[in-house]
Amino acid sequence: MQNFINKLQSSLKEGSFVKLTLSKPSAISRQQSADLNNVYVKPIILKNEKMYSFTYRYERRDETKNYDAEQTLEMITELLSGIFLNASLFTLTEDVTLLVSKKGKTTVMCKAVKEQREQNVQHDKVKNRLINTDNPWWFKLGLTTREGKVTADMQHKFKQICKYVEIVDGIMKNVKFDGKIRIADMGAGKGYLTFALYEYLTQRCKYDIMMEGVEIRSDLVVKINEIIKESNLKDFRFVESSIEAFDCQQTTDSGQRFRVQSSEFKVQSQLDVLIALHACNTATDDAIIKGIESNAKLIICAPCCHKQIRQEMEKSKIVDPITRYGIFMERQAVMITDAIRALIMEYFGYKTQVMEFIEMEHTPKNVLLVGRKSDAPVDKEAILKQIEDLKKQYGIERHYLEKVLG
Ligand SMILES: C[S@@+](CC[C@H](N)C(=O)[O-])C[C@H]1O[C@@H](n2cnc3c(N)ncnc32)[C@H](O)[C@@H]1O
Repeated sequence: MQNFINKLQSSLKEGSFVKLTLSKPSAISRQQSADLNNVYVKPIILKNEKMYSFTYRYERRDETKNYDAEQTLEMITELLSGIFLNASLFTLTEDVTLLVSKKGKTTVMCKAVKEQREQNVQHDKVKNRLINTDNPWWFKLGLTTREGKVTADMQHKFKQICKYVEIVDGIMKNVKFDGKIRIADMGAGKGYLTFALYEYLTQRCKYDIMMEGVEIRSDLVVKINEIIKESNLKDFRFVESSIEAFDCQQTTDSGQRFRVQSSEFKVQSQLDVLIALHACNTATDDAIIKGIESNAKLIICAPCCHKQIRQEMEKSKIVDPITRYGIFMERQAVMITDAIRALIMEYFGYKTQVMEFIEMEHTPKNVLLVGRKSDAPVDKEAILKQIEDLKKQYGIERHYLEKVLG
């Protein structure tokens, strides 16, 4: 152990420290602080001084603390006195691994570094983040402290926000928009993801957009509209409405009407991007219907619960080798619900994609269903047959979204 600590001390003194990871919490540590899994240490520059940033990774959140070299040595010595059993130290010249067995036997392994290695000493604040948490709305929404630091409780949501913006950015870059882009986020809830996209598209990408959050809960709508007003954000509002009743043909802040586009539907309105994230059960379908009827260029949804199809499957009493197991029945219902959604979107000319939203460890509702409107011809008969076959196989009378097929 002392050998490892000495190596750490020299690397801090000589300035050759690159990073350090502590892993494998001991049984004692599990009892005391059950959910601390790892600690990651990296050098940073803070107010022109070299410091060391500690990221404490708990089961569902991260905590960051900064220490100077002396404190770093003390902290790591303490964490290796019974809390963590493994440590990996990376320096400019060697990699040092410490392994402590359950019986307390210590092994240190050293490996010389052959390649040229660099130190990354950027501070988190100057990292090229997609979202600027210094913006005042993040504090008002409850994501950060007044100083713009994401609170411990909201680390998990913040990760989701960043991942979401990254994915949507990638998707939108491949779609051609002309003029103001009208975006509706249906079932917008507390608005974290709606604000994130608004901020990213207006501040970073300089898109001209009109963003509307559609939410049925009036308390949330009032609160969010206050934040929007206080933050002086243009062409952004929350509308109190059910998704079903939402009128896609609305006016901008400046009173200008959106252009009217005819489609194969009677609804004459234009929406460029339809978003529905975790809107419960068939609310996702209602949102997709709005997107299809409005001829939206993009439909992006993260489906939530899938009760409607599950109930149909249970009612049918068809037992197959997969769905006879409750947990598989649940999963199969999720996949069938979303597969039929994707097929119906294809029917209406959307090229669909199903992708992972965020890692499964954060939420099991981690699928993103994306449809891009395309002019390519569609074999509607073949799609209808696929839908029928799927329904027949699982005894489904009707998928809620079939409403849109008439
Ligand atoms: C689970 S939250 C998701 C919030 C946000 N989209 C997100 O992913 O963080 C679902 C929100 O949708 C709203 N909602 C559910 N059904 C709705 C409907 N039919 N019309 C409008 N809003 C609805 C709920 O009130 C709730 O705020």
